[in-house]
Amino acid sequence: MTQLLRIEGLRISFAHRTGSTDVVRGLDLEVNQGETVGLVGESGSGKSLSCRSIIRLMPPHATMSATRVEFEGRDVLGLSRTELRAHRSRNVGMIFQDPFSCFDPTKRVGEQVAETLRVNVGLDRDAARERALALLASVDIDRPEQRFRAYPHELSGGMRQRVMIAIAISAGPKLLIADEPTTALDVTTQAQILALIEQLRRESEMAVLLVSHDFGVIAQACDRVAVMYGGHVVEAGPVDEVCAQPRHPYTRALLESIPSVESAGRRVRRAGIPGQPPNPAELGPGCPFAERCAHVRASCREVDMSLIRVTEGHLTACPVVADSLGAVATGVRP
Ligand SMILES: Nc1ncnc2c1ncn2[C@@H]1O[C@H](COP(=O)(O)OP(=O)(O)OP(=O)(O)O)[C@@H](O)[C@H]1O
Ligand SMILES: [Mg+2]
Repeated sequence: MTQLLRIEGLRISFAHRTGSTDVVRGLDLEVNQGETVGLVGESGSGKSLSCRSIIRLMPPHATMSATRVEFEGRDVLGLSRTELRAHRSRNVGMIFQDPFSCFDPTKRVGEQVAETLRVNVGLDRDAARERALALLASVDIDRPEQRFRAYPHELSGGMRQRVMIAIAISAGPKLLIADEPTTALDVTTQAQILALIEQLRRESEMAVLLVSHDFGVIAQACDRVAVMYGGHVVEAGPVDEVCAQPRHPYTRALLESIPSVESAGRRVRRAGIPGQPPNPAELGPGCPFAERCAHVRASCREVDMSLIRVTEGHLTACPVVADSLGAVATGVRP
């Protein structure tokens, strides 16, 4: 498989009055051409910020650094302004978590798609309009002519998400980042949007990085998964293998907290994960899950988090699990 994106040692921190807080703490992630990778983890684990690092779009007061952020072997951190603009449209398309943040409420949605095409692809007015209509149709928007003239608030959540996808794929990116694209949608619309993303991926051979806090969504849609906790990837591997044999206590707890299909309607309540998600400002060295982990050892609070290979392509950051399997740290990355 050809590597498309490689992130190594990503750190993101926020400056505040009394210093700074690391919220992403040495993240490693890899996406190959054409594959769908899931990024899963609790709220606040750093999923959205990690995605934004790929297009170097940080919120105010945030700084990012990394050993490496490479796209097709090119250093993203070293791109000039002009190169970055091209990178943000032709290499990577992004569906942001908050759909309203990317729409101008005063402009018709079709105009907004067309404007992206004029700016990012260099089409003239008429060509951009024609291509925008075709794009709206390609994301299964019925009566595209009519929808073209709608304002964002006039569309349903599912429709808005389709328009966002149209904008994200308008320049034919090699990677589509979809940050919680279905969280606000009902189950039927959620399934339709996931199916649309999968269809577009197959047709255009782009890779997809799908972010969700819902392991069920990831299991259904992805080839590989990276599990995030406290600003780290704590486990990564083929999604079937991670679901069948989770190799980090956090992944295990996360999978056990998903209500199973058999339990639906039978009022079976799954236990949540005991304890609270970590506050980044209070995290010390070592494993961020140590406080909530049933298998914790004293050394877990001291060791550097690094991923250890347990089988080809399946990595865990838990030294206790790795020890029990006889795996040794190899310094490999996900
Ligand atoms: N603009 C900001 N200013 C200060 N802290 C921030 C800001 N944006 C994010 N953070 C902090 O960074 C951490 C990671 O945030 P991020 O949005 O990446 O999490 P997430 O995994 O995407 O969560 P969610 O599932 O809720 O979307 C959180 O602790 C959050 O509070
Ligand atoms: Mg988020």
